[in-house]
Amino acid sequence: MGSALPLGLAWPESNLIPPLFGTDRSFHVYVHIPFCEVRCGYCDFNTYTAKEIGSVSQADFHDAIILEIERSANILASSGYPVRPISTLFFGGGTPSLFSDTQLAAIIEALRHNFAFEANPEITLEANPESTSPRYLEELAAIGVNRLSMGVQSFDSAVLKTLERTHRPELVADLVAAAKGAGLSTSVDLIYGAPKESLDSWKRTLNEAIDLGTGHVSAYSLIVEPGTKLARQIKTGELPETDDDLDAEKHQLADTLLSEAGLSWYEVSNWGEPSRHNQAYWKSADWWGYGPGAHSHISGNRFWNLKHPLTFQQAVATKSPVAGIEYIDEKTRFEEMLMLELRTKEGVSTSLLDSLKVHQETVDNFIKDELLAKSGNRLSVTAKGRLFVDRIVLDLLTN
Ligand SMILES: C[S@@+](CC[C@H](N)C(=O)[O-])C[C@H]1O[C@@H](n2cnc3c(N)ncnc32)[C@H](O)[C@@H]1O
Ligand code: SF4
Repeated sequence: MGSALPLGLAWPESNLIPPLFGTDRSFHVYVHIPFCEVRCGYCDFNTYTAKEIGSVSQADFHDAIILEIERSANILASSGYPVRPISTLFFGGGTPSLFSDTQLAAIIEALRHNFAFEANPEITLEANPESTSPRYLEELAAIGVNRLSMGVQSFDSAVLKTLERTHRPELVADLVAAAKGAGLSTSVDLIYGAPKESLDSWKRTLNEAIDLGTGHVSAYSLIVEPGTKLARQIKTGELPETDDDLDAEKHQLADTLLSEAGLSWYEVSNWGEPSRHNQAYWKSADWWGYGPGAHSHISGNRFWNLKHPLTFQQAVATKSPVAGIEYIDEKTRFEEMLMLELRTKEGVSTSLLDSLKVHQETVDNFIKDELLAKSGNRLSVTAKGRLFVDRIVLDLLTN
């Protein structure tokens, strides 16, 4: 099989036709749009404001993505990979809603031309309320986007101010209604645990989110990422520390209210109609991630792109945007499966634990403490266990 790869980093020769892993053989695409109008104080994602990004224009960046798509199709074809139509596409960021419908349509067309789409692909766009309008939502629907994930975070203006979000909460209801009117499935992202956010404020946010009638809600516990403005504000005492016990209460409140509203949990931070794209990650399906810093996973090979949009762009034009590649051995793969699948309602199979040589006593102790529950040959986290899932995984792997 030919290995004349047009990009800089070649795949390991022995893995040109890698063994197929897992049961989910579908193919998925992530496109990273690394632009934001303002950087929120808590966010350390690979995204840049106009001031931070210097000479990279959105137009040049867009051209680089199209080129990367063409090159990826060549790589897959020359590697003998059994290319399948795209099952899900996710525009994430950054702020993908800063891209016009024309720019997004050109990316979708390039993917269609190079890979084709399945009959009913899920095409999601992450949007910020302040860069979205009812008209834009109609344009999105017209180019084939069928799912909107809106970054709402909170309905409390004081919390939005702490998080340095720039939108007015009043905007959200009209935008969600417009998205539904345009035929899009809708989801909102919420964050709980911002400094000074009370349980009551979080309850109001949840109730307002529920009133929107979206089919899906993500609720993330705020992570204080090192190096962010938020971390500095907490360190200097400008803002109070976050409170783990209160966060646990907020998670439980989210679960109670969202479940009562008919949105049942399917992953620690997600409720409602499962996103097919996220499920692909959790099931270790294959995906190609386009754009700076994006990660890909193709049949046991994991590779990731150069992080900065400028170096990414220059590399795509001349050689490879790939910064690193690793072949995931079986043990690592099983460990990752445990990490991802234990976060889901389906949980993990006991045979996976056997493969990882997890001590039965450790499992039994978690069951006794009502953190894990067994049903047939599957093991899943209980409502209490969801709060400690990372700790449980660590203990299962090390005890
Ligand atoms: C990176 S953003 C991209 C989409 C969009 N720009 C937005 O802000 O909604 C995706 C999600 O990650 C969340 N997020 C970013 N940093 C986070 C942090 N430190 N802790 C918890 N959630 C975070 C955002 O709030 C958002 O809901
Ligand atoms: S808008 Fe989203 S991606 Fe941009 S800085 Fe804020 S949280 Fe991060």
